[in-house]
Amino acid sequence: MNQAVNPDLQTVTQVTHWTDRLFSFRVTRPRSLRFRSGEFVMIGLPGDNGKPVLRAYSIASPAWDEELEFYSIKVPDGPLTSRLQHIRPGDPIILRPKPVGTLVHDALTPGRRLWFLATGTGFAPFASLLREPETWEAYDQVIMMHTCREAGELDYGRALVAGLAEDPLIGDLVAGKLLYYPTTTRDETRFKGRITDTLASGQVFADLGLTGPLSAETDRAMVCGSLAFNRDVAALLDRFGLREGSNSAPGDYVIEKAFVGDGV
Ligand code: FAD
Ligand code: A2P
Repeated sequence: MNQAVNPDLQTVTQVTHWTDRLFSFRVTRPRSLRFRSGEFVMIGLPGDNGKPVLRAYSIASPAWDEELEFYSIKVPDGPLTSRLQHIRPGDPIILRPKPVGTLVHDALTPGRRLWFLATGTGFAPFASLLREPETWEAYDQVIMMHTCREAGELDYGRALVAGLAEDPLIGDLVAGKLLYYPTTTRDETRFKGRITDTLASGQVFADLGLTGPLSAETDRAMVCGSLAFNRDVAALLDRFGLREGSNSAPGDYVIEKAFVGDGV
């Protein structure tokens, strides 16, 4: 079966393995697909019984990119990723072209500092938004906080952030505006600790030379991690006086699940 027969079928163009649990890949983009940087779609592979195995995935590439990029976990016995982790360039992949999501600029009211708060593969929507010109046009400062247990899990984000300055479209816009704060909670690295703790204690402000704490007047935030992380960050942002927003009622911060946990 090819794209001409099934318009939902796209072709893998590139695969990069970052750790034994994480990989990224790029696929062809259907001409008709329009999305806002930060949104997610359903992607998958054909199942044994002819029924596709589909899962939600944040689009990690920006809206202007000719291809689509995704950043994925490898769950050893996961119905999709136990197979998806073996894809190679040229392989077909199913993509349902109905992008949705709340991690979009439209869902935030204007502010001066924008915080991207992610754990694990929750970095994916920010890989899109960091390459989105609107991010750099709308804010004076963007702080990318990404926390993982181990140092190797930060590699995809680290490489992406390092490439921003060289990006012909946004390199000039990014200059002097981006503060990157990768932390680990198990491995020893330059910055250690949970995002919730470094925000609450003021450590991140001290490390980056920023004025704190967060305030609804200047700060906006986008959050993507596990359910527990999202819940705890939301409680913290509420405490600082920020209000949650949505597509229909823009606010000071927005939240998306990076995945749905066991038994949830
Ligand atoms: P599943 O049966 O779906 O999951 C099995 C178990 O693995 C889960 O119960 C959970 O404990 C764990 N798990 C699943 N996904 C993750 C993850 N990303 N990180 C850590 N543990 C996980 N996944 C991505 O890898 N990249 C994305 O960009 C992405 N975007 C998502 C956006 C949304 C809105 C949602 C709801 C989920 C997203 N996911 C993403 C999760 C994705 O939909 C699948 O759960 C994942 O691909 C695993 O699929 P599976 O069929 O192999 O296992
Ligand atoms: P920790 O190692 O202290 O649990 P996980 O792999 O469990 O999804 O976690 C990814 C990262 O997010 C880890 O660094 C983990 O820190 C951190 N984390 C998990 N839950 C929370 C939470 N509720 N608040 C803040 N950080 C969290």
